[in-house]
Amino acid sequence: MTYHDKNPVFKREIIEKVLSDYFANAINDPMIGYLFNGKDTKRLIAKETELTLGFFDQETRYTGRGLRQVHVPLKIKKGEFDRRLVLLRVAMEKNNLPENAIDAWLKHNEMAREIVLENLDC
Ligand code: HEM
Repeated sequence: MTYHDKNPVFKREIIEKVLSDYFANAINDPMIGYLFNGKDTKRLIAKETELTLGFFDQETRYTGRGLRQVHVPLKIKKGEFDRRLVLLRVAMEKNNLPENAIDAWLKHNEMAREIVLENLDC
């Protein structure tokens, strides 16, 4: 039995769909939308899909840049990080992910909190 048989939620197409829905909202969001001005949304979806899938299946390879390198220059604030988690949960719920999958995915994001917010004391 492969990983994907045991964990049907964390399939590429589901993760991609949730992230597409998340970004559709995030780029227009009054609080965090400005951070995505001029960014390539397709690339963001592709790289985040790889990163997320790789975390859960231990076999998909992440080919993006380092998270610290990409996020520290953006000077993301704590409240903005929290807002991302809210919008991500909305996208997961819209796609009917079960609560244990939502939990696992949000915990994965929490693990990246310090890297993404580095150098900020607020
Ligand atoms: C408030 C929270 C966050 C915001 C506003 C945000 C915003 C951004 C932006 C604007 C970029 C594009 C950077 C650039 O091309 O110059 C980016 C890239 C990326 N972010 Fe985030 N991010 C957040 C949190 C996270 C978290 C928690 C993760 C991982 C769990 C993540 C994963 C990624 C990945 C994989 C990329 C692509 C790197 C690449 O282009 O090679 N982000 N993010």
